[in-house]
Amino acid sequence: MNTAVSIGKLRLKNPVMTASGTFGYGEEYAEFYDLGRLGAVVMKGISLRPMQGNPAPRIWETPCGMLNAIGLQNVGLKSFLKEKLPFIRQFDTAAVANVLGSTPAEYVKLARALDEAGLDGIELNVSCPNVSRGGMAFCANTRMLGSLVGKVRAAVKGATLIVKLSPSAPDIKAAARAAEDAGAEAVSLINTLPGMAMDLEKRRPVLGNVVGGLSGPAIKPVALRMVWEAAGAVSVPVIGMGGIMNARDALEFILAGARAVAVGTANFVTPTAAVDVVEGIESYMRDKGIEDINDLVGGLLVDNPDH
Ligand SMILES: Cc1cc2nc3c(=O)[nH]c(=O)nc-3n(C[C@H](O)[C@H](O)[C@H](O)COP(=O)(O)O)c2cc1C
Repeated sequence: MNTAVSIGKLRLKNPVMTASGTFGYGEEYAEFYDLGRLGAVVMKGISLRPMQGNPAPRIWETPCGMLNAIGLQNVGLKSFLKEKLPFIRQFDTAAVANVLGSTPAEYVKLARALDEAGLDGIELNVSCPNVSRGGMAFCANTRMLGSLVGKVRAAVKGATLIVKLSPSAPDIKAAARAAEDAGAEAVSLINTLPGMAMDLEKRRPVLGNVVGGLSGPAIKPVALRMVWEAAGAVSVPVIGMGGIMNARDALEFILAGARAVAVGTANFVTPTAAVDVVEGIESYMRDKGIEDINDLVGGLLVDNPDH
C-alpha cells in the first residue's frame, strides 16, 4: 500500500500535514506521539522580527468553529532558526516554514534565509486576515500576488515553494493560477474566513481585535468547494485544509483534488488529531483495497458536465 505523495520536490511519506499556527513548532505535540508519523509539520508563521500579536482575548469558540485573532505572534526568524528548527529536525518528517512579511522584500529575505537553513518547504502566507498590514492585500490582487511569488521564487533554490491562498480572494481559480504561473510548486488553501462574535450582555465584541479568523467545521464546505475549484484550475498539487477533524474529512478533500491535506483546529480539540487522520486514511485504504493514495486524488464522481 502506498501512501506517499509528491508536492513539488518534496516527497511526503503520507499526505497529512499540520496547518500553520495550530501546531506551534511541534514541541507540545511531540509529547503525545512521534511527529515522524506525519507527512510534514507546517510550523507557526514567522516574521523577520518577533511579533507580540493582538490584545487578548484572542481565541473564541463558536457553535461550529473557532475564531482566532492571534495576530501572528511569533519568535522571529533568528530564534526560529536557533531554537525551533533543530527540535523539529529530530523527527523523520518534512519541515515546512510558514512566512509572513509586510513587504515583498521582507518575504524574499525570510524565504532566502529559510531556504539556506535547509527547510524542506516554505509556505507563503499571503492571506492572514488578522494583521492590518500586508497579508491579505496580496491575495486580493492577482498581479500583486504573481509579482510577490515571482520575487520569492528567484530567491528559493532547494525548498519547495507553497503559496497559501485566502478564501477571501475574489476569484480563487485566478489566484491559484497566478501563484502557479509565478513559480509556486503547490498551492495550499484555505486560510481562515473573517468573522466576529459578541457578548450581548456587555454589548462588546469578544475578541480583543474585534474581528478574527473563523476555522474548523464551519468552514469545511467552503474549503471543499475552493479546493475543488483550485484543483481544476492548476496543474501543481493542491494542499487542502479547512475543518478537517478526522480521516473522513481528509479523504473528502483528497477526492476533491487535494494531493495533501492539513489538520488545523482539530489539534486543539484532540492533540492526536493529525496522527489519527494518518491512521484513518490507512485503514480506509486497507478496507477498500486501495493500493495507492494517489489514485484517490481528484477521484470525485460528478455527473453534471458543467463541473
Ligand atoms: C490559532 C490559529 C493560528 C493560525 N496561524 C496561522 C499562521 O500563522 N499562518 C497561516 O498561514 N495560517 C494560520 N492559521 C490558519 C490555519 O493554518 C488554517 O489554514 C485554518 O485554520 C483552516 O484550517 P482548520 O479549519 O483545520 O483550522 C491559523 C489558524 C488558527 C486557528
